Amino acid sequence: MADPTRAHFQSRLGFILAAAGSAVGLGNLWKFPYITGMNGGGAFVLIYLLAILLVGLPIMLGEVLLGRMAATSVIGAFRRLTGAPTPWSIFGVLGVLAGVIILSYYSVVAGWSLHYLRLTLDGALAAGDPKALADAFAALYADGATNVLWHAVFMAVTALIVARGVQKGVERAAKVMMPVLLIILAAMLVYATTLDSFARAFDFVFGMHTAALTPAGVLEALGHAFFTLSLGMGAMLTYGSYLSRRDDLVAASIATAVLDTLVALMACLVLFPITFAAGMAPASGPGLVFINMPIAFAQLPGGPLWSALFFTLLFFAALTSAISLLEVVAAYLIDERRWSRPRAVALLALLIFVLGIPSALSGSDDATFGAQVHWLGERNWFDTFDYLASNWLLPLGGLGIAAFCAWRLGDRQRRSAFAEGSPLGAFTPFYLSWLLLLRYLVPIAILLVMAHALGLL
Ligand code: PHE
Repeated sequence: MADPTRAHFQSRLGFILAAAGSAVGLGNLWKFPYITGMNGGGAFVLIYLLAILLVGLPIMLGEVLLGRMAATSVIGAFRRLTGAPTPWSIFGVLGVLAGVIILSYYSVVAGWSLHYLRLTLDGALAAGDPKALADAFAALYADGATNVLWHAVFMAVTALIVARGVQKGVERAAKVMMPVLLIILAAMLVYATTLDSFARAFDFVFGMHTAALTPAGVLEALGHAFFTLSLGMGAMLTYGSYLSRRDDLVAASIATAVLDTLVALMACLVLFPITFAAGMAPASGPGLVFINMPIAFAQLPGGPLWSALFFTLLFFAALTSAISLLEVVAAYLIDERRWSRPRAVALLALLIFVLGIPSALSGSDDATFGAQVHWLGERNWFDTFDYLASNWLLPLGGLGIAAFCAWRLGDRQRRSAFAEGSPLGAFTPFYLSWLLLLRYLVPIAILLVMAHALGLL
């Protein structure tokens, strides 16, 4: 079954960095802080942490395991593992669909990091006036042409890297960018702890502010656990398929989840002290990172340098995630349809670029397409895609992956694959707890939260 010519990662570290590169992204640095702010902090963070530990991590292990066992991408994996065409493959199709949808708007936000890099280099952020910075973000959001331009640039860069292949493109990009990202973030955190507002921010993030939590917030916390760990659409499955059998997949998956969670919490502990110190509201929405970080940079010695570094990192973080999104979809065409890699990547990048245009136009005034579409309540195109993908498609995909792994795979086969190369995986109580979570808690939690969100409960 194993195909010796199939691409694989060079090392376990390569896998961890690529998987962490996929997981750590705009979800951690941009989205998590802002949804935490909008949901009132504390209680939301607790639900999110529980969702990571009890739902996300078990699915992550299952996904990487399925990928390594099947040694193929997400749609084919189910068929390969059952040995015949199977309805389970629908979850693979959903995953590929989710990848296309997510990347189409993700790339627009990633483009903002490039725009801010440019503003930094032009000296346009140096004054650090909160009002002017808020206006600058609003202006960017409303400027359709600029958004489309950066979206195009970002998609092109992503495509160029993915076209180079698994080792030379995906793995190497992550190996360079991830360590730099961690160092910069740690340095920012040290600075944030020196601010008087650090204690207040710490309480906002870790204190119990239950009053602000709503059922929609619980759905969002769960959805975000999927989004931030890149689960439910086959990214981890595809990366798992490039992981060698000798490598300890349990340890690697845990390391990935821990790293991702640390980065998200660090991002909050950097952003909120700055937000409070500037006298701004934590619930200011998608502009949080783009308005508040420049405020802090303006007050720092060497501010423009920090600012340039930070937006470069935001760009790197987005890039390694975008690479994984594109890789999932491309791997399907390469593995199943026998397309050449450059051809698959070029075509998909073009398609996703076009699909992302309405998202890039979503902030423009109402005359424009993306802003005018209101499929789901008051959401424009951009928000609709984000809402559908992270709150519905990913949890649904995760449900399918969990159910397949926990109920459909044979126990002997699953157990030996789990233990391969892994002392913890071979430890029976660990294996059984994982299986129990995957069998019962994971599906029940996902279904309950969804039923509630649909008003059925
Ligand atoms: N995990 C990425 C982030 O936090 C986003 C992502 C989702 C990437 C799904 C791949 C798959 O930014």
